[in-house]
Amino acid sequence: MLPFNSLVSSSQLTPEIIVELFRATDEMAAIISKAGTHKLLDDKIVALLFFEPSSRTMLSFQTAAQRLKAGTVFAQSSSSTSFEKGESIEDLIRIVAGYADIIVMRHSQPGSAAIAAEVSEVPFINAGDGGNEHPTQSIIDSYTIFREKGRLSNLNIVFGFDSLQSRSIHSLSRLLAQYPDNRFVFTGPEKLLPDQNLLNELTAAGVRCEVQSEVDYRDNYDVIYVNRLQEERFDDVKLFEENRRKYRITKKDVEGSDAILLDPLPRIDEIAVEVDALPNAVYFEQASYGVPVRMALLASLLGKI
Ligand code: NCD
Repeated sequence: MLPFNSLVSSSQLTPEIIVELFRATDEMAAIISKAGTHKLLDDKIVALLFFEPSSRTMLSFQTAAQRLKAGTVFAQSSSSTSFEKGESIEDLIRIVAGYADIIVMRHSQPGSAAIAAEVSEVPFINAGDGGNEHPTQSIIDSYTIFREKGRLSNLNIVFGFDSLQSRSIHSLSRLLAQYPDNRFVFTGPEKLLPDQNLLNELTAAGVRCEVQSEVDYRDNYDVIYVNRLQEERFDDVKLFEENRRKYRITKKDVEGSDAILLDPLPRIDEIAVEVDALPNAVYFEQASYGVPVRMALLASLLGKI
């Protein structure tokens, strides 16, 4: 059982909660591999509201719901809902909470998840609110790190290449800031380094934060976490065009390194395809954990485990 009804930010995910969610994720992975499905949620309806593009998050939430036999209802773009007519997030959530037992929403507006959680009468999950947070991705990411490295503390991590706008980086760094002895090195174009507020927050939580314009990936890193430049969030198109191919991990950068390489995906320019064959390239495994993690989260927030 989780001590909250809605997941808006990864700062809610304390180490104690993470232990519980990882244990539940292992149970869900066992269900998938043994029977494929379980009727744990066969009396529940999951509403999936995706007002920004999504492949992995949307499909893995839908798969998670269906593996637990929940029904799903969908709204996929603002043109299929009353948002086009000017309806507010508050009103939409109030209505959907009257239909479904839990709401999952992705929306382009930072802070939209907090607004939705506030008015929702049923549990609410933030599946990405603009460039702000993506807490369910951070559970998947930390689960992958824990499986590969056996710990979430005492980690030396590189984050690139758009720490300013990547909600996945925001959420994972906030989650890992709750563990001792972590060091984060942020790299990428100068204008896409993290916001000072985030750096202050992480430093206050005890993380050693550094910013470097270039990184030697063969230094003593445990995790290299990269995300594409968030093209859709640039006001300045030139800034995106100038930098899109400048930061890219190639085979020679990471071959033989002990660091694991993570990416929430989609991969655009940030990792060369030749890297996929290396044993430390674990981003496809990372994506596969999306289903058991989201099964665990749905079941926990619905009070079934
Ligand atoms: C991420 C997102 O949507 O923020 N993708 C995902 O959910 N796996 C990363 C991205 O879009 O770059």
